Amino acid sequence: MTDRGYDIGLIAGDGIGPEIVGATVRVLCEVERAFSFELRMRPIDAGAATFLRTGRSISDEGLEVVVGSDATLKGPVGLPDARHADGTEAGLLGGELRNRLDLYANLRPIRRLPGVAAPLASADIDYLIVRENTEGLYASRGRGVGNDWVVTDTLLVTRPGTERIVRRAFEEARRRGGAPADGKSRVTCVDKANVLRSMYFFRQIFLEVAAGYPDVEAEFLHADAAAQALVLDPSHFDVLVMENLLGDILSDLGGATVGGIAGCPSGNIGEDCAYFEPIHGSAPGIAGTNTANPRGQMLAAAMMLDYLGETAAAGAVRDVVDGAFSDGSVETLPDGRVVGGADAVAERVVRRLAAGRPMER
Ligand code: IPM
Ligand code: MG
Repeated sequence: MTDRGYDIGLIAGDGIGPEIVGATVRVLCEVERAFSFELRMRPIDAGAATFLRTGRSISDEGLEVVVGSDATLKGPVGLPDARHADGTEAGLLGGELRNRLDLYANLRPIRRLPGVAAPLASADIDYLIVRENTEGLYASRGRGVGNDWVVTDTLLVTRPGTERIVRRAFEEARRRGGAPADGKSRVTCVDKANVLRSMYFFRQIFLEVAAGYPDVEAEFLHADAAAQALVLDPSHFDVLVMENLLGDILSDLGGATVGGIAGCPSGNIGEDCAYFEPIHGSAPGIAGTNTANPRGQMLAAAMMLDYLGETAAAGAVRDVVDGAFSDGSVETLPDGRVVGGADAVAERVVRRLAAGRPMER
């Protein structure tokens, strides 16, 4: 019997998006059955193809579906031809969803991915990047000013924006089990406080907020040193909090250390609204070649289930996805693509879920 139901916005995305989102929905259908809840999917037309067709990346009605749903699952978006007049990419949705809906916390877990040949295979890696999602240098998106001689973008750091993202990082640290190296709960503030006044301000606010969490270790690191440490000493890290652009860059670096960003999920979370997506792009060049890797998308769905409170289902999805990639039945190529593509992975994952059905209630 189904006793719990959720409205889920669904954005298939561009490029490989429909392949990996479709495969993930197949998995979610099996999860619904195994865990006795209902996911009412509400498809939303959005992304770069939508932009090319309509001049907007998402309609007001589409935004309303995201706002009115319990959570939204989003595929990667973007197409080479979709451009704004200022030369930047159009149809990406970050401005619409992250900024307009004030989804200020971008949570990007980086952990070892069983079954993938990773450059840092021997290291115990399990940390969370908390990327500020509405300010920083990205606040300048669409607002850069200049002419054909000079252009400037402005990096924005506000007190309330920084307080809430730093608090979120410490709350996440309290929920986790500590850094792999020593088991200590720790939040690392990553900045360039040595060079930029805005980042020095970010660090000062970090220290103020940290004082309210004496049970969690607080430290800071300049972003360049952090890039090195994430490669040489990743087990030291538990939670890292940082400005928007730094979070964009260091999450791809972190993803590389565990075998590539194809397997990395993320959640964009506000006070009462959230969407979940892989951190990689839409890879239009490989769309339709049956090689798209749905791992990051499937793990994003697991994060969404956690957010909905369906933690047993979330854990099961992570387990079966990890299992399908490590029992030799899914072959990952060195560039992150998979043999057989998203559908082949979905089939293996669904079979594992159906075979186990361990959590039948
Ligand atoms: C990400 C992506 C986006 C970003 C792009 C698609 C605009 O790289 O979510 O990390 O830069 O934030
Ligand atoms: Mg990125």
